[in-house]
Amino acid sequence: MKQDKRRIDCGLIDESSVGRTVSLAGWVAKRRDHGGLIFIDLRDRSGIMQLVFNPNFSEHAHEIARALRSEYVIEVTGKIVPRAQEVINPAMPTGKWELQVTGVHILSKAETLPFTVEEAQSVDEELRLRYRYLDLRSEVMQKNLKLRNDTLFAIREFFNKEDFYEIETPCLTKDTPEGAREFLVPSRMHPGAAYALPQSPQLYKQLLMASGFEKYFQIARCFRDEDLRSDRQLEFTQLDMEMSFVDESDVQDVIERMLKFLWKKFFKISLDSFQRLSYDEAFRLYGSDKSDTRFELPIYNISPLFEKTPLTFIRSVLEKEGRVGALCVNEKEFTRSELDAWSSKASSLGVKGLLWIRFNEDGEVESPVAKHLPTDFLETVKKIIGEVNKSSTLFLIASDYQEAWIALGRLRLQLAQDLKLIDQTLWNFLWITDFPLFAYDEEAKRWNAVHHPFTAPQAGWENQDTLQIKARAYDLILNGIELGGGSIRIHTPQMQEKVFDLLGLDKKHVQDRFGFLLEALRYGFPPHGGLAIGIDRLIMLMSGAQSIRDVIAFPKTTRGFDAMVDAPSQVDDHRWHEFSLMRLPKKK
Ligand code: AMO
Repeated sequence: MKQDKRRIDCGLIDESSVGRTVSLAGWVAKRRDHGGLIFIDLRDRSGIMQLVFNPNFSEHAHEIARALRSEYVIEVTGKIVPRAQEVINPAMPTGKWELQVTGVHILSKAETLPFTVEEAQSVDEELRLRYRYLDLRSEVMQKNLKLRNDTLFAIREFFNKEDFYEIETPCLTKDTPEGAREFLVPSRMHPGAAYALPQSPQLYKQLLMASGFEKYFQIARCFRDEDLRSDRQLEFTQLDMEMSFVDESDVQDVIERMLKFLWKKFFKISLDSFQRLSYDEAFRLYGSDKSDTRFELPIYNISPLFEKTPLTFIRSVLEKEGRVGALCVNEKEFTRSELDAWSSKASSLGVKGLLWIRFNEDGEVESPVAKHLPTDFLETVKKIIGEVNKSSTLFLIASDYQEAWIALGRLRLQLAQDLKLIDQTLWNFLWITDFPLFAYDEEAKRWNAVHHPFTAPQAGWENQDTLQIKARAYDLILNGIELGGGSIRIHTPQMQEKVFDLLGLDKKHVQDRFGFLLEALRYGFPPHGGLAIGIDRLIMLMSGAQSIRDVIAFPKTTRGFDAMVDAPSQVDDHRWHEFSLMRLPKKK
């Protein structure tokens, strides 16, 4: 169809449009037939406009309008007029005007949809994803994807002004171990060999520093074959960046300025300098390295109160160098049954052996273990926690430090959610620094890199125990969600080989996997560092969505399935043979 030069967007109609004859094109969102008059809400990308079909304007158009149904695609021509005072719709941006239709074409008909566009948000998610192109017509999804477009554009604008080059790196590559399982793509030309899809462009961006580009960024697609959650997808997008001749504060400064730029642009908010906590502090206070600092509720170490306890299970924990940790809730006086309910709720969070202690009007201690607590318990508890009163309740866990604090960290979040302690208007950005370089995997009986094996250790590492070595790594947390992570990298072959050694990787494996990196490190490699931010998580937080699936056009279901195109799908035997592969017989 020939493009009508007068076609304008529904959402652009305003006072200045009154009296003009225009044409609009879009979908029939709603249709009301009042006999003589037919009203249609026409929806396009920019908004909704009310159309009026009156046989006095055009009998032909009115006749066609009688046949229109939801989601038909139409083009209309007519005059924009003000609505009568009593039918102005203040909830609609174009609610003061309507279009008196004189001409209409049906561009495409629609069968009854599996769900209406208006109810899309409330139908089963698998169904939404099966008909994603219909779901995407909804106002929320249109808004989320527009925000995504605008944010990506603003990020590019920022990095361009800062003199970074945007450089693309390959998707068919070799695996770079970063903790997750990789997707493999079998090669037809090289039987038995496979490419890996990148978990991130980590090694390429480091090599771009070796090439002298100094400041690089990329909006990069990444692939990780891992279990899905509301903030994880098999394929996702990162803002990836890297800089040469820098230290931690240079990288963090660019990222802070970029996020301040985005928040100013999209929310008209001037963000304060980001908070900072070391990994050890974050864990000690909040039992997590993704600390949500929008509310207090810190974890207290109250082990000293139990030094002489007759409670054998606590004594045995302390003898094995475990600790007793406590959360102190002052915001609510719990009833006995609520406390019991919290104990059972805690076990569903994986929190074992939760004890509670509270104080009544007379300053007496109430608890299932009250008679085993010392008489001066209240006084000594005050020395650690500060003032406690009759509405204070302590929730306690005694266990190994890691286990107890992780459990209390989970309970802290759940209590904050249930008791509504979180100020939802806050944007709390937090840098977590000074991570350990390595963590020991008890099951596999080996050391792993906490970030990735290319992260530089902090000074003094040569003389430290493996567990004590700290990394030059930093994570960025927003409202308790990990937004990004990065580090200063190793840039000498000696240090890189030493780190591979500490990870227990044998020489041949290292040569096969990372020979190219070790070689590059020998040809003049500048000191460098960088960071990557999860774009999907960023847009999720900016838009207020509950899941990254709501800010991705075509995400996978929680079972890793594309319900719309039906992928992954079975592949014919001859296709496997092309890759020199064979399908295993189905298990009986
Ligand atoms: P990391 O693995 O921490 O670092 O990833 C950076 C950020 O990417 C996002 N992210 C994900 N988003 C959605 N789905 C996933 N499965 C997923 N996995 C990660 C998170 C995370 O914080 N190469 C390093 C960065 C660097 O050192 O520069 C890296 O990829 O928001």
